[in-house]
Amino acid sequence: MTENTTGGDVRLTGISKTYGSFTAVHPLDLTVPQGSFFALLGASGCGKTTTLRMIAGLEDPSAGSVFLGDRDVTDLPPYKRPVNTVFQSYALFPHMDISENIAFGLRRRGIKSVKKQVDEMLELVQLGDKAKHKPHQLSGGQQQRVAVARALINHPQVLLLDEPLGALDLKLRRQMQLELKRIQTEVGITFVHVTHDQEEAMTMADQVAVMNGGRVEQLGAPADLYENPRTTFVANFLGTSNLIEAEVVETGSDVVVTAGGGKLEVPGDRCTDAVRRGGKLLVGVRPEKISLAHADDAGSIADGRNRVTGRIVDSSFIGVSTQYVVNSPAGAELQVYEQNIERDARLVPGAEVVLHWNPAHTFGLDADQSLLAGTVGAAGVETVEDAS
Ligand SMILES: Nc1ncnc2c1ncn2[C@@H]1O[C@H](COP(=O)(O)OP(=O)(O)O)[C@@H](O)[C@H]1O
Ligand SMILES: [Mg+2]
Repeated sequence: MTENTTGGDVRLTGISKTYGSFTAVHPLDLTVPQGSFFALLGASGCGKTTTLRMIAGLEDPSAGSVFLGDRDVTDLPPYKRPVNTVFQSYALFPHMDISENIAFGLRRRGIKSVKKQVDEMLELVQLGDKAKHKPHQLSGGQQQRVAVARALINHPQVLLLDEPLGALDLKLRRQMQLELKRIQTEVGITFVHVTHDQEEAMTMADQVAVMNGGRVEQLGAPADLYENPRTTFVANFLGTSNLIEAEVVETGSDVVVTAGGGKLEVPGDRCTDAVRRGGKLLVGVRPEKISLAHADDAGSIADGRNRVTGRIVDSSFIGVSTQYVVNSPAGAELQVYEQNIERDARLVPGAEVVLHWNPAHTFGLDADQSLLAGTVGAAGVETVEDAS
């Protein structure tokens, strides 16, 4: 519907924000491709809102520049920037009906004939039958869709969304994620979406910038971030990772390492530069990539797979999968997720097992970082319930 011909990307160059001696956002370079759904993901307090507010012009950067398309907007006040923001608290006008709420931006600019555009927006957010309702007669999710329509009717170059689904319950949030994604695809406007919910970022975004302590720690497509995390923070914050302390014994196209007395292989191109030079490293593998065999069946595991022996200390059946916790000489509390297809009744706590996986699913990270960075309860990371 709205075609951006002006190059609607956001470009931040060396942008930072300090409050007194505290640095909320360290100098940051970031390019948001035009027409993309871009997520800023990170725990509460990592600088997401501050970054978004600098794009909107609601916060003056301490250094650096903000470009929208080719235009340097760093010195423009918020109302002169072609952006709109949707917040968690949607702040609709309670005394106006839904149509009037959506028409507000056009009316303020003195545009009289608004009906066609308002109808278009009502259709876009699928609230055509609610046009004459007041906000309080709508559910939270519907109100948030009105807030999105109210912003999009201004045809912003970029729509900024700051935890827009934060106030909704889990089920509604999941629905709205798909809904927002559909709306973005339909209008083709660049969305910059702030969230602390990694599943939300991965579901919706084409590109995710993972922030930690005022810095972008890694940027990429969701699957790339998940499969190739470059730091322990990203490995732990996006899903769950097993991280095993190991030592390089052979470098090459495959890196061979020892951990807990056994050898493992890591593809060289999935290792950080430091790892390729040798020494200590952290070997990573995602829980769903690992298969579990009872020790009695160890002989039937195919050659060429990475193996770690251990003992099951805990298992939880969660329907689609069973999640095992395994202690091994290579590492404590390794996580293994097995799909519930043919369950082996011998795989219970106390059982001696072999964890095995395709070496291609292994990644290597620098050893000089905390194993626990990015896990729930680690510094700077709160549980989803706590975060705001
Ligand atoms: N006006 C302010 N004065 C002082 N510190 C601030 C101000 N605004 C934000 N901060 C601090 O900057 C950090 C980043 O905040 P924010 O960008 O809101 O984080 P997020 O949105 O990721 O939760 C936090 O530690 C916050 O307390
Ligand atoms: Mg915030």
